[in-house]
Amino acid sequence: MNRGIAIYPGSFDPPTNGHLDLIERGSKIFEQLVVAILRNSEKSPMFSVAERLAMLQELTANLSNVRIDTFHGLMVEYAKSIDAMCVLRGIRAISDYEYELQMALMNRKLEPTLETVFMMPADKYSYVSSRLVREVAQAGGPVKGLVPEIVEQKLREKVDPAYKFQGPELIEVPKRKKKKV
Ligand code: PNS
Repeated sequence: MNRGIAIYPGSFDPPTNGHLDLIERGSKIFEQLVVAILRNSEKSPMFSVAERLAMLQELTANLSNVRIDTFHGLMVEYAKSIDAMCVLRGIRAISDYEYELQMALMNRKLEPTLETVFMMPADKYSYVSSRLVREVAQAGGPVKGLVPEIVEQKLREKVDPAYKFQGPELIEVPKRKKKKV
C-alpha cells in the first residue's frame, strides 16, 4: 500500500500537546507528514510564523518522517505542489465537526483527488485549543500539561518579558514588592 505524503495544515499559534499528539499518530500512518503553517492568516497571531516554525521543528526533531513547512494561499494548491494525497485534521469534539466537514467538502470541491483524514487526539487533550491556551497564558494562568515545555516557556516570555529562558533553567526576574496601602 502506498501510504504517501500527507499534509497537516493549521495555524499552530501556538502548537499544543493536542497538535503534537496528532503529529505523532499521523507520522505512524503516513510515509511522510508535512506540518504546514498557514502564512497569510488574517488573524493577528501571538507568535510569528518563524517562531512557530522553530518551535514545531524542535518538537518534531525526533520524528524522521515529519517535516515542517509554511504555505500561503489555498491549502489544496500547496498540497498539490508537494504531491500530498491526504490532508490530516484533528477532531476533538462534535463541535469541531461542522467546521471541519465544511472545510473538507470545500477542499474536495477544489481538488477532488485530495482526501481528508480525521484523527482524534488523546482524550486528555480533547478540550485543548491554541485559542484557549493563549487566553489562559495571557491572563497569567498555568498552561502546564497543555503545551510542550518549550512552548510554555515561550508563552511566559511573550506574556511577561521579565522571564527569560536560559538553558534548562527558567530564571525568574524578581518582581518589585507591592507598596503597602
Ligand atoms: O488551525 P486552523 O486555524 O484551524 O487551520 C485552518 C487552516 C489553515 C487549515 C485553513 O484555514 C486553511 O486551509 N486555510 C488556507 C486557505 C484555504 O485553502 N481555504 C479554503 C479551505 S476550505
